[in-house]
Amino acid sequence: MNIIDVQYIDITLYSAVCRALLKRTLARALAYVVLTICLGVLRQARRGARLAAGPRRACESGPGLFRSACQPARRRPAPRSHGIQLNVTSKIDTVLITGGAGYIGSHGVLAFRAAGHPVVVLDDLSTGRRSAVGDDVPFVLGDAGDRDLIGKTLRDHGVGAVVHFAGSVVVPESVADPLKYYWNNTCVSRNLIAACVEHGVRRFIFSSTAAVYGVPEVMPVAETTPTEPINPYGASKLMTEWILRDTAAAHDFSYVALRYFNVSGADPEGRRGQNSRTATHLIEVATRAALGVQDGLDVYGDDYDTPDGTCVRDYIHVSDLAAAHVLALKHLNAGGDTAVLNLGNGRGHSVREVVETVRRVTGRDFPVRQAPRRAGDPACLVADASAARAVLGWQPRRAALEQQIADAWNWRQKCQNITAAET
Ligand SMILES: NC(=O)c1ccc[n+]([C@@H]2O[C@H](COP(=O)([O-])OP(=O)(O)OC[C@H]3O[C@@H](n4cnc5c(N)ncnc54)[C@H](O)[C@@H]3O)[C@@H](O)[C@H]2O)c1
Repeated sequence: MNIIDVQYIDITLYSAVCRALLKRTLARALAYVVLTICLGVLRQARRGARLAAGPRRACESGPGLFRSACQPARRRPAPRSHGIQLNVTSKIDTVLITGGAGYIGSHGVLAFRAAGHPVVVLDDLSTGRRSAVGDDVPFVLGDAGDRDLIGKTLRDHGVGAVVHFAGSVVVPESVADPLKYYWNNTCVSRNLIAACVEHGVRRFIFSSTAAVYGVPEVMPVAETTPTEPINPYGASKLMTEWILRDTAAAHDFSYVALRYFNVSGADPEGRRGQNSRTATHLIEVATRAALGVQDGLDVYGDDYDTPDGTCVRDYIHVSDLAAAHVLALKHLNAGGDTAVLNLGNGRGHSVREVVETVRRVTGRDFPVRQAPRRAGDPACLVADASAARAVLGWQPRRAALEQQIADAWNWRQKCQNITAAET
């Protein structure tokens, strides 16, 4: 074999190897293209089937190539109340505010409107005033226990929640006329709640009171303290709490009952304040006395088992109180559970201390008379409101007694002429 033959064999061998390699590469490329096309067709077919079946969770694509890589979709926790499912909507419903022409209710109207809620007020003006509700707020004159009127109001205004401030609030009056209180605070509330159930209004905020506790043995008073009211006012409110509890257990209905301690002060911007014809709350009576539109004040009892012998109470600013109602509705709207919560500042002030602070803040003196104890007054009531802070995220902003008195005093001076004409 000469050198030419050897070169020929090399070339032949080289081209044979090249052809074999080329064939293998082409076969692989062809196989890859075919496989890609097949997968594309498969994916299209599966997507078409999913669309035809409507929206589904990512993991419900059925058995197939990608099933094993798929984790179960996490369900959003369903809103609950006493085990009842509630629909949560982002839409802000109209809020029916009963008693919105009264002292606390009129501040409630300001707070709900400031939070962006459309409101409708229903009030019989038995103690409230039409002027305490702005002209731009829908107003229904009538009884909160009139089921037909309530039903019509709920329907006409597209109400999604009720805040029930309407009621009778004077403890000694409740002792003298208990049937009025069992009617206006219990029976009226029962009818209002029944109308809510009938018309599918499932969120309810209720004005309850520290008077449900009676004479608690331990201070501060937590919600777990036994409820043993010592006057018809407290009993009438406690019965409404029971109606709410049992209604929530039986129906698609949730509520927050707020047990207020002593409410005082006025809107810091001076738009609203206490406007009742006769003053019964201590700070209100004292500021009227300081202004000279009332002839001094009586201190009922100085022989209680308290540091200076006068009753000790926990005062809460009315605007802080109103803000808690907005948070309570937010809590229910977010699917939060039914709750019963105290609202107070956790600090007790005696009647004498309040009188001295009113004198100091107003710079006015006024006569103070010592009077016998009143029926139905416990010696001391101070709140443990830690549950309201935890559940609602509530933070009182005007807790200081001086601040509450200063706001009440500003309002009282502003309304000097009205008060003089109305008392
Ligand atoms: N003021 C407090 O310190 C205090 C403490 C605890 C609880 N609360 C509760 O707060 C709520 C409001 O108290 P307030 O101090 O503002 O009293 P308020 O008398 O100033 O207000 C009550 C309002 O409800 C209206 N009303 C009463 N009965 C009605 C009825 N059957 N139908 C329609 N409207 C009616 C009145 O006209 C008034 O406008 C009451 O339920 C009361 O029991 C008040």
